[in-house]
Amino acid sequence: MNKSLPNRAIEWQERKLILLDQRRLPAETKFLVIDSASEASNAIRDMVVRGAPAIGITAGYGVVLSAISCQQLPHHQACEQIERDINNLAAARPTAVNLHWALQRMRDCLHNHAKDWLPALEQEAIAIQQEDIDANKTMGRLGAQFLYKQCKVMTHCNAGALATGGYGTALGVIRTAFANQKLQKVVACETRPWLQGSRLTAWELTQEKIPVELICDSAAASVLRERKIDWVIVGADRVAANGDVANKIGTCGLAILARHLGTKFMVVAPSSTFDLDCVNGDAIKIEVRQSEEVTHFAQQSLTSPEVSAWNPVFDITPANLIDVLVCEKGVIERPNRQRIAQILNK
Ligand code: MRU
Repeated sequence: MNKSLPNRAIEWQERKLILLDQRRLPAETKFLVIDSASEASNAIRDMVVRGAPAIGITAGYGVVLSAISCQQLPHHQACEQIERDINNLAAARPTAVNLHWALQRMRDCLHNHAKDWLPALEQEAIAIQQEDIDANKTMGRLGAQFLYKQCKVMTHCNAGALATGGYGTALGVIRTAFANQKLQKVVACETRPWLQGSRLTAWELTQEKIPVELICDSAAASVLRERKIDWVIVGADRVAANGDVANKIGTCGLAILARHLGTKFMVVAPSSTFDLDCVNGDAIKIEVRQSEEVTHFAQQSLTSPEVSAWNPVFDITPANLIDVLVCEKGVIERPNRQRIAQILNK
């Protein structure tokens, strides 16, 4: 790459997609140049890029790469080829609805532009990323209003700039609270098995000198009780019509603990993460990844060779455990079907 280093985890430069390889953080800051839809789909599946909004944004650029590869074809033939790539991108990961939301936006754009469809698709993908950053900043402001001076916050997984177009959902609220001098510190759960908390969230926060303390996931109950944490703040991969939330495995456990101990629980998710076609959390497909992510670390076995592991990577937090659901369209306290429909129709 001869250009200067990108300053975002996802960047569109000269009709190529540049992705920060999140598998290598924090040891190495390495960017990959992605120049086909199938490479974009592999990057999502293999977690070069992860986090619901970031996956959607990457898929949007993946569609542009598909369009570049067939720009000489007439529109109807290009549509057929691009549709195949869209289906392949859609199959990369199942839980984050932002992937399907972004692909549907790209598909609509393609069908609405019989002429000049390539520049139209490129503008649409760029808009998806910019709108996500704008939504993050709005949510940061809305969510931070609930925090007061010297607040202690626990977060899980990575819902930061790395997981979005930039700035972050849960970490967007944390960033804004820090800028407004409302934050004492962040406790980051390490997030077994992929370690998004220790490898990504801790890295992201230390880049901005936001005080962060890392804990094992299993220390959460003691830390919530003994360190008097004020808020647990997380992102989401899909929000069902009734307010049930799919997010990183372990989130539901934190919500149960928080309710038991009187700690407030906030979910921060843009409208692109809401899926009104899912009546409740039972309708959300939960991704199960390879057993090796649990049984091995850095190619080293952590258990006996004959042992296999079950590795569901998301869980469902019921709406009644959520105190505040923050979306760029507004804040929903004690979310339910009616309040969600009201906010999303704004
Ligand atoms: O498996 P991952 O790393 O893609 O899971 C990410 C999460 O669960 C995040 O909390 C969620 O996508 C919100 S990101 C703004």
